[in-house]
Amino acid sequence: MAQKTSAEIREDFFKFFKSKQHIIVNSAPVVPQEDPTLLFTNAGMNQFKPIFLGEQEGYKDKGTVYKRAANTQRCIRVSGKHNDLEEVGHDTYHHTLFEMLGNWSFGDYFKEEAIDWGWELLTKVWKISPDRLYATVFAGDEEDGLPADDEAAELWKSKTSINPGHILKCGKKDNFWEMGEIGPCGPCSEVHIDLRPDEERKKQPGADLVNKEHPKVMEIWNLVFIQFNRKKDNNLVALPAKHVDTGMGFERIVAVLQNKESNYDTDVFTPLIDQVGKLAKISYGESDKSDIAMRVIADHIRSVSFSIADGASPGNDGRGYVIRRILRRAVRYGWDTLGMKEPFMNKLVDVLAEQFKEVFPELIAQKDYVQNVIEAEEKGFIRTLGQGIQLFQSMIEGRTILPGEDAFLLHDTYGFPIDLTALMAREQDKEVDIVHFDELMLEQKERARSAGKFGTVDSDQEEWTFLNKDDKDTEFLGYDQLEANASISAYRRSGKETALVLDRTPFYAESGGQVGDTGIITSGGEHIRVLDVKKNDGRFIHYVDHLPENPDGIWNAVVDQERRIEIRKNHTATHLLHAALRNILGTHVGQKGSLVENERLRFDFSHYEALDTNTINKIEELVNHKIQENIALKEERNIPITEAKRRGAMMLFGEKYGDKVRVITIDPQYSVELCGGTHARATGEIGYFRITGESSVAAGIRRIEAVTGKAADRYLRKEKVIVEQFKSHIGKTDDPVSGLEKLIIEKKELEKEVEKLRLHSATSSLINLIDNAETLSNKIKLIRGEIPGASMDVLKQLGYESLRKSAEGTVTVLGSKDEKNGKVYLLAAVTDDVIARGIKAGALVGRLAKLVGGGGGGQPGLATAGGRQPEKLGEALEEAKNICLEIKQ
Ligand code: SER
Repeated sequence: MAQKTSAEIREDFFKFFKSKQHIIVNSAPVVPQEDPTLLFTNAGMNQFKPIFLGEQEGYKDKGTVYKRAANTQRCIRVSGKHNDLEEVGHDTYHHTLFEMLGNWSFGDYFKEEAIDWGWELLTKVWKISPDRLYATVFAGDEEDGLPADDEAAELWKSKTSINPGHILKCGKKDNFWEMGEIGPCGPCSEVHIDLRPDEERKKQPGADLVNKEHPKVMEIWNLVFIQFNRKKDNNLVALPAKHVDTGMGFERIVAVLQNKESNYDTDVFTPLIDQVGKLAKISYGESDKSDIAMRVIADHIRSVSFSIADGASPGNDGRGYVIRRILRRAVRYGWDTLGMKEPFMNKLVDVLAEQFKEVFPELIAQKDYVQNVIEAEEKGFIRTLGQGIQLFQSMIEGRTILPGEDAFLLHDTYGFPIDLTALMAREQDKEVDIVHFDELMLEQKERARSAGKFGTVDSDQEEWTFLNKDDKDTEFLGYDQLEANASISAYRRSGKETALVLDRTPFYAESGGQVGDTGIITSGGEHIRVLDVKKNDGRFIHYVDHLPENPDGIWNAVVDQERRIEIRKNHTATHLLHAALRNILGTHVGQKGSLVENERLRFDFSHYEALDTNTINKIEELVNHKIQENIALKEERNIPITEAKRRGAMMLFGEKYGDKVRVITIDPQYSVELCGGTHARATGEIGYFRITGESSVAAGIRRIEAVTGKAADRYLRKEKVIVEQFKSHIGKTDDPVSGLEKLIIEKKELEKEVEKLRLHSATSSLINLIDNAETLSNKIKLIRGEIPGASMDVLKQLGYESLRKSAEGTVTVLGSKDEKNGKVYLLAAVTDDVIARGIKAGALVGRLAKLVGGGGGGQPGLATAGGRQPEKLGEALEEAKNICLEIKQ
């Protein structure tokens, strides 16, 4: 039988579960949309968490609720509970991004079907030999008070043809699956496969090797029977319903079915490996070292590309930092091992996008953008690598062992792996303090682990008290009215926070970048302030200053109208800005983030360079023209998504849209967007639009901040005050700018004058020091001392001066303090014969700089350094003598 492709294997999975009445769901983005505490999607079940917790009854799609679903989920496990980054590429079965095939039951079928169907797919559809398969079941746990899962063991025996000796009981570590510190969990049953040759299998039973990290005896499928919620106090609380959550490692099952020794030999990776080979002009298999590098690159481009396509970008913290580290690791392997000194990762995106265009079309749709972000990041890093090499040189100079901190800095900031640092040190017959480096790495891993945990806020919270059980979704009235009568359907208190749900509300709940409304709800004599509103699966949660004495009855809910009006001006202005950016910069501009408040708006978008003043002016002008045209907005609430697409409405990737959408049109030729936010009736309401800032957020992403309406008015008034004050200080109200220019020129001239005087006085100080030079016992003449008030530049000039004036055998060490900035400067100058005797200015100043809390270096004859402890200058000048005395006569 011809070998199946990976695409066919994926399709087999979908077809099989469709035949068992499962709906095939799209993969959620790898960057979780709703859960800021989860760094990356790390399991197929993440997107279904609210269903397992009973907050949602099943998977909702186009108005229907489904109880069975299946999909392939792209997952990233490089932080938190599972962190394999350093192993990836060195072995053949760990990945930064992998696909997880899964099937789910939401309170529908349970263990029996899950086991029965799992077995059917593996042994009947894919014809995997049963004697290679093992099933593990939960052995129970005393601490949690949980019995062994005998039911699952019995089902494996009765529903499948597995050898009963292949059913193994394992403990909590392997057979009780938990999403994180808290959350849905339950006992699981794993399927393992033994891929060793028959001869080896005869010698040692596979049962001995299950869960022992053997590369040929590995887990392929995990069937989890979700039935508990782990609370923060560690207690397990039974969930309202029992669910099934399974996950199968796609790359592994493909390797099994394609009969490959390594995941990288399957068609999931070969197109990427081939492309790396082409770019580096090398073949896979040439050497172990180059193979590792090729695997690292082929693996890492997947996690980096999909994270960017799903809305994250390389940056300095959180997710951005993880992506940056992965990308840098790959670039460094290419640079160091494969000799690729120019950006190359971006050239792999084409191949990847093509490979995944059917299953994950998000990448091909944003290919250019992803490529550009990666290229910009690569360029920056390659520059950094160059700087890192220089830094390494200055760190190692004058030392025999490079401290662990320095090696860690090189690793962390410049992406130097420790083996490269060690190699560079060895090339100069030096060493690296690996032990301390390892300690620092461990600390960093701990930090990364705690950053990856699910937030535990939820478990602090008391459960909701429901007043009206059937009433689930809040009816939103706020597009048309700012006041309404409503009843409270649920409330809760958690710590300092109190919240309630209304059955109907005029309050907008934070979404699409627009902040939630504030206002007041009243009943009888009681007034409750609404401080913020958020949405949770159709319910509008109103955060309030206190809970009502008596929640029953009818409440009058009133939105803070003035604030809402300013918010809606900013929202409409955001649409005008988005369209203006696409008009002026090009259609590559895509929305990457948005914040709409009453005081300001903030808009992040894809673009590769900073905007110059001229461009900013043009954008401002276009938006203001559209405001002056006073265009009436058209709001349509129930447009079929296909119709909206046909009209070219702008929509966002990673956003879930129903089949009916809301469309906001501000002139069909200018701006049509899918949007759930609240808007001005006509653009004239905005009044005026002013950009207040333009900056970079991450590689390839720019940010514009702006004000409109009343805030713009206040902004302009403030500017006016500044201009008035400026005019009155300059004293030339007709032409204040040329008045200022004149002042600047005069200031520069004065500065030059001062500099001259300083040099003059410094030179006299030097002459004084030369006259008082000390001749040491080894005949070295040492000129040293403080030159008050000298800048680094002046010190340098004095250094040259001293060298010029000195006879042989002279060492000059000068220092000065800049008390105002808390800095100290040092200079050393050494005559050639002293260099030959072993004192180099660079090394000398380097050692002295350590005493004043700094660093520096330079040429053997003349070198400078800076430090942050001016009070230690005397000590450093003293030490200069000891260093000079190290030289024998
Ligand atoms: N949630 C389980 C896992 O990640 C099964 O999907 O292994």
